[in-house]
Amino acid sequence: MQITIDSPDATISCPVNLAAPRAKMVVANWKMFGNLALCRESLPRLSAAVIDSVELVVCPPAPYLGEVGRLAGRSGVHYGAGEVAGESVHLGAKELESRSRVHYGAQDVADVTHGARTGEWSADMLAELGCRYAIVGHSERRDRHRECNQTVAVKAAMCIAAGVIPIVCVGELMSDRESGQTEAVLAEQLNAILPLMEKNAMFVLAYEPVWAIGTGLAATPEMAQDVHAFLRHQLATFSPTWAESVTILYGGSVKADNAASLFAMPDIDGGLVGGASLNVDDLLTIYRAANI
Ligand code: PGA
Repeated sequence: MQITIDSPDATISCPVNLAAPRAKMVVANWKMFGNLALCRESLPRLSAAVIDSVELVVCPPAPYLGEVGRLAGRSGVHYGAGEVAGESVHLGAKELESRSRVHYGAQDVADVTHGARTGEWSADMLAELGCRYAIVGHSERRDRHRECNQTVAVKAAMCIAAGVIPIVCVGELMSDRESGQTEAVLAEQLNAILPLMEKNAMFVLAYEPVWAIGTGLAATPEMAQDVHAFLRHQLATFSPTWAESVTILYGGSVKADNAASLFAMPDIDGGLVGGASLNVDDLLTIYRAANI
């Protein structure tokens, strides 16, 4: 059965506590890199370095989710599906406590609950594995797999229905920026998920300018801040309180040497990190830079 984005069932599992401070967060997107050795080397080191004030999320390739979950569980990190949904309802002190652990998530999810979908997995399956997050709408999925805004919105809804928090990626092409279309493109991408937002669904937004991903050409802090402020303003037109509660990450060539200046910006709440997240030392430097 496929749910639609305005289905009541799609928005009831992850209400956000509007009184809770918005989470600072660093998300490691390993993409299709890494191996079991990286899981086994990095998870213990990451778990040992985690601090209360910043969430750390590892998104390995799907075949390694079980191993990452096992390693995270060994250090007291594992979450079941019910616990995820339960915690989301009772954010606050308990939620802050849970930030002091490494969480893990998937890089994508199907837009249906089940079916003859070779090579795909559902949000319920991720919840069963203890995944707290799933990235949806990454530009590599939008581009290579032709995912449109509506598909991304449905994937986000599937996550929320399963008690998995979606990390929704938006971002413009260089041609959009050069033609002055950045805000229009982002508004269109964001508008697709607004039906979730109106019900205070809990999600994370990631601004990832496509031209900055994997190129070494990160947006300047000021440039990124302008866009983050725009995104938060867009959210505020629907609910000012809610807009303040949404974590907005910057992604696109975040490195150990530029993370601090990006994260110092008032509307940048952390990073979605690709290449640099494969090096544990670099990831930890980036993670610590979010503790401001
Ligand atoms: P990058 O990737 O850090 O390698 O630019 C970021 C992303 O695609 O999420």
